[in-house]
Amino acid sequence: MKTCTTTKQLRCQLNREKLAGKRVAFVPTMGNLHEGHLQLVRKAKQVADVVVVSIFVNPLQFNVQEDLNKYPRTLAADKEKLFAEGAQYLFYPSVDEIYPEGMAQQTKVSVPELSETLCGANRPGHFTGVATVVAKLFNIVQPDTAIFGKKDYQQLSIIKKMVLDLCMPIEIIGIETARAEDGLALSSRNGHLKPEERHTAPLLHQTLQTCREAIACGYDSYLELEQHAIETLKNAGFQPDYFSIRDAYTLKEVTDDTELIVIAAAAQLGMPRLIDNVTLNLN
Ligand code: PAJ
Repeated sequence: MKTCTTTKQLRCQLNREKLAGKRVAFVPTMGNLHEGHLQLVRKAKQVADVVVVSIFVNPLQFNVQEDLNKYPRTLAADKEKLFAEGAQYLFYPSVDEIYPEGMAQQTKVSVPELSETLCGANRPGHFTGVATVVAKLFNIVQPDTAIFGKKDYQQLSIIKKMVLDLCMPIEIIGIETARAEDGLALSSRNGHLKPEERHTAPLLHQTLQTCREAIACGYDSYLELEQHAIETLKNAGFQPDYFSIRDAYTLKEVTDDTELIVIAAAAQLGMPRLIDNVTLNLN
């Protein structure tokens, strides 16, 4: 596996691969890799000849400087995992390489309607930071396909919309959430849970599933379901940010035209903020 730290190096390598007719898949990450990330890399290997993974902790998507500073950086362990999975290129740029003019960069990519709700409601600018860095990374790598996790459902929706609106010739693939045996979605934040919180944490996914089952059985008082779920989580010690039943394409309220529902939730448990979602096809 080759590690490139500059755009020039990476482009030079990838130009050779593309001239040889190779199909390129790209997996953007912020590092501290776990099984969830590695599933994306495995999918990338299945659908392309060359796999590029980026590790870049993107300052533009952090609202709180402290969270940015505290983000775990585990390059040596990450490299070993990527090597073992057979990724061919790691792109590991500095902040200056991606933002030569600093965070005052003028051009930004925003997808407002999908960004200002759910996880974006209390984090102004977060998803603009995500879309902007992903657009830059796409321009640097110019992949045929890029792989994202459904765990970050809203992020995946925003990237799909950006690619569509800006005519980027990239196929976006979404991968199911990798979970621990008890259902907890894998996340680098789970490491911050105390043992008793780790015991409680799977309740987030259980509550989402209970809600999905109720809707599947025909229960359609969504507000009541949301309120009941929030109470359940509060009683168990979570501080819920939201628990919302939405149209999976618009992320707005469910309407008569809704074909796919997403039930998405975010809640703080001790220090970490956990997010998760499930979907339900109405057809
Ligand atoms: P990061 O949190 O490192 O996640 C990188 C990718 O891994 C995302 O597509 C995310 O959805 C996926 N992922 C994380 N946990 C997962 C799990 N349990 N199962 C399946 N996929 C999972 O998301 C980001 O980085 C950044 O916002 C980024 C897109 C790289 C832009 O900076």
